[in-house]
Amino acid sequence: MKTFIVTGVSRGLGQAFYRLLLPLPVRLILIGKVLPADPPELTQAEVIFVKKDLADLSQPIDVASWIHKDAREIVFINNAGTIDPLVAIGSIADAEIIEATAVNFVSPAMISNQLAHLCKHNGIKLRILNISSGAAARAIAGWGMYCSTKAAMKMFYECLASENDKVTVRHIDPGVMDTAMQEKIRDCKEDVFAFGEQFMRFKRENLLRSPDAVAKDILIGEDLL
Ligand SMILES: NC(=O)c1ccc[n+]([C@@H]2O[C@H](COP(=O)([O-])OP(=O)(O)OC[C@H]3O[C@@H](n4cnc5c(N)ncnc54)[C@H](OP(=O)(O)O)[C@@H]3O)[C@@H](O)[C@H]2O)c1
Repeated sequence: MKTFIVTGVSRGLGQAFYRLLLPLPVRLILIGKVLPADPPELTQAEVIFVKKDLADLSQPIDVASWIHKDAREIVFINNAGTIDPLVAIGSIADAEIIEATAVNFVSPAMISNQLAHLCKHNGIKLRILNISSGAAARAIAGWGMYCSTKAAMKMFYECLASENDKVTVRHIDPGVMDTAMQEKIRDCKEDVFAFGEQFMRFKRENLLRSPDAVAKDILIGEDLL
């Protein structure tokens, strides 16, 4: 039985992954602050919910306690993310730097580090689907923490893959999706954010994809559905 670990399942793309995986005969470990409401009735997966605020680095992470001893393949979908703070560098509060780094980089790096250890020592195949972004490779004014933490995450996984040929890493840019993250971008009134109008146009012209369609394409593309 495959084990899936998915972060950030309360809404958006993570919720879509959760809904698609629930009807499968898999072990599903969901990590986040809250579980999404109304799961589909056709549930086959064995579901474990790990309540965890990824911004809170004082809460210990104990990946081994989530994993069943007969696990042979783990798929970690590193999905949770925050685009905050949407302000120019120079105006970011220290606490915002810490929070964005904790959510987008430190907590998933801690989880992945523990997974790498566990998988290496127990002969478990590890696949990482890193939900990345064009922002990992392109500087966007006003998105300093998002761009830099997404870039750091990508490099961390590149290093992991270079160290262990039993670990498969895929960086996936899901493209622009109709989620709360896009709403936040459209609501941003900061002068520094030069691309604001472009994001308004994405919504106006219906160019935002539904997270359900994107999640399905990703899972099918990875031969996981
Ligand atoms: N939307 C886009 O156009 C777009 C484009 C490129 C890449 N992406 C990437 O796609 C992924 C999903 O984005 P989305 O659009 O679905 O975003 P979203 O709607 O804002 O959802 C983000 C998810 O991350 C979780 N999360 C945020 N902070 C957390 C924390 N401190 N602890 C635990 N969970 C936390 C949220 O849970 P809570 O509800 O509990 O906060 C939520 O489930 C992200 O990695 C994002 O960078 C999105």
